[in-house]
Amino acid sequence: MIHTTLFLSNDTSSRAVGVDRLAKLLQDESNVRLVRTSSRGAFFLEPIIERDMPDGRIVWCNVTADDLPGILAGQGGVALQSIPFLAAQTRFTFSNFGITQPLALDEYRTRDGFRGLEKALVTAPDKVIEELKIAGLRGRGGAAFPLWSKWQAALLTEEDEKFVVVNADEGDAGTYCDRMVMEGDPFRLVEGMLICAHTVGATRGYIYCRQEYPAAAGSMKAAVHIADEAGLLELDGRRFPIDIVMGAGSYVCGEETALLESLEGRRGVVRAKPPFPAVSGLYQKPTIVSNVLTVATVPSILARGGAWHASLGTDRSRGTIALQIGGRVKQPGLVEIPFGMTLRRVLEQFAGGMASGSRFKAAQVGGPLGSLFPESKLDIPICYDAFSDAGAILGHGGIVVYDDQTDMVELARHFMAFTADESCGKCTPCRIGSVRGRELLELVQAGGATTADLTLLSDLGDTMKTASLCALGGRAPYPVLTAIEHFPHEFKDRLKM
Ligand SMILES: Cc1cc2nc3c(=O)[nH]c(=O)nc-3n(C[C@H](O)[C@H](O)[C@H](O)COP(=O)(O)O)c2cc1C
Ligand code: SF4
Repeated sequence: MIHTTLFLSNDTSSRAVGVDRLAKLLQDESNVRLVRTSSRGAFFLEPIIERDMPDGRIVWCNVTADDLPGILAGQGGVALQSIPFLAAQTRFTFSNFGITQPLALDEYRTRDGFRGLEKALVTAPDKVIEELKIAGLRGRGGAAFPLWSKWQAALLTEEDEKFVVVNADEGDAGTYCDRMVMEGDPFRLVEGMLICAHTVGATRGYIYCRQEYPAAAGSMKAAVHIADEAGLLELDGRRFPIDIVMGAGSYVCGEETALLESLEGRRGVVRAKPPFPAVSGLYQKPTIVSNVLTVATVPSILARGGAWHASLGTDRSRGTIALQIGGRVKQPGLVEIPFGMTLRRVLEQFAGGMASGSRFKAAQVGGPLGSLFPESKLDIPICYDAFSDAGAILGHGGIVVYDDQTDMVELARHFMAFTADESCGKCTPCRIGSVRGRELLELVQAGGATTADLTLLSDLGDTMKTASLCALGGRAPYPVLTAIEHFPHEFKDRLKM
């Protein structure tokens, strides 16, 4: 006889802090039913156990084995809505998180799942694309390119085969929202791929998944299989197969053309553009390469309408952004909010300030190629225009906060060395420039550099920015140059007298 249903996340991050141990202990309780959901992204509160009570959902946070008897007796806990980190968000791409079981197709359906696809199937392709244009959805992988424009290019290119490739390489340090989508709401990604395939006439789909994400790949494989069994991959009179392909740990393979090379079985080297993949991509066929989050946002846009999406956010940054906050903050985790809030407010309101005992030094937004923001620059609104005006990028929405113990010269060296390691080697500014940049920073560290070497570093950065073939070389100087700009004394103090 079951008296109590308890909800626990099955996400990699919650498992890393012991949620499986709690689940194992609870399994032995004969009157308990366990429902494994996806994490709500409030990682600082995991392991979390949730329970429906007459007044709504109650949650117990940072649960240990000692807390279980009290939870089973219904003692303690707080109302879910009383947790500011969660209550202050605007969730739609992550609206199922913490609620549904990731692989329960019926649960996905009851929460509007496949409503977007149903709409797309009875809408002319150009009208679907028009809806995306109204929505103002821009790619969430980093380049922020308007999605409608890619779909239109692929639709208008006549070919017997076309592909949908989901970029699930998620290489930016401190980002994990793609992993969360794949582990926590995989049918949303399948639905987005099907809408894309139907609209542009694609014949096959691939998910290129980061090698370090075995659970996400497993979840996607299972979801594709379940969707296939349910007949959902039957599209426009033919089957739309979806394959999950694992990467091999190369950062540059997240760049869309290097990714396509890798998918074709070759070394991940960047291709010159044009032609763009939407016209000539995988095996020279029209290919939509899109980030996981971009594709996972499409179903809600179709279901609710482009105007609804456009009503959120700012002028040229419509909808919501999934910020992934990490580093030396009190409350690391995933936050979905409309574009436009300042970086300062995000760090205060959601990240809860600095972890105890540490003082803020800088925030890096946009992964290893992102600029550094000192305290004086935190009032920047989180939207594409403001970031681009500041010479910065939002990238994939990762925010890493550094404390005052951080050595900025070492940080700058680390990022240059990262580019030197990850460069695909195709173009000289990046292949050679990143090695020379690393050497110059090592010279600063060794106390052998002069002011002229810092000028040389800055000139080298300008060359890399303007002459590199892709954003790896083109953006690599930004963390270095913003470190020098905002923390000059750390570099100057180490120069040769
Ligand atoms: C070095 C490098 C690494 C990248 N890594 C990723 C990645 O891991 N995931 C991703 O979606 N996009 C990544 N991108 C961006 C892709 O090239 C491409 O813009 C993106 O997949 C397009 O999808 P979107 O329009 O949905 O953003 C990377 C770009 C560069 C230059
Ligand atoms: S910038 Fe670097 S990664 Fe990009 S094409 Fe040139 S060598 Fe390759």
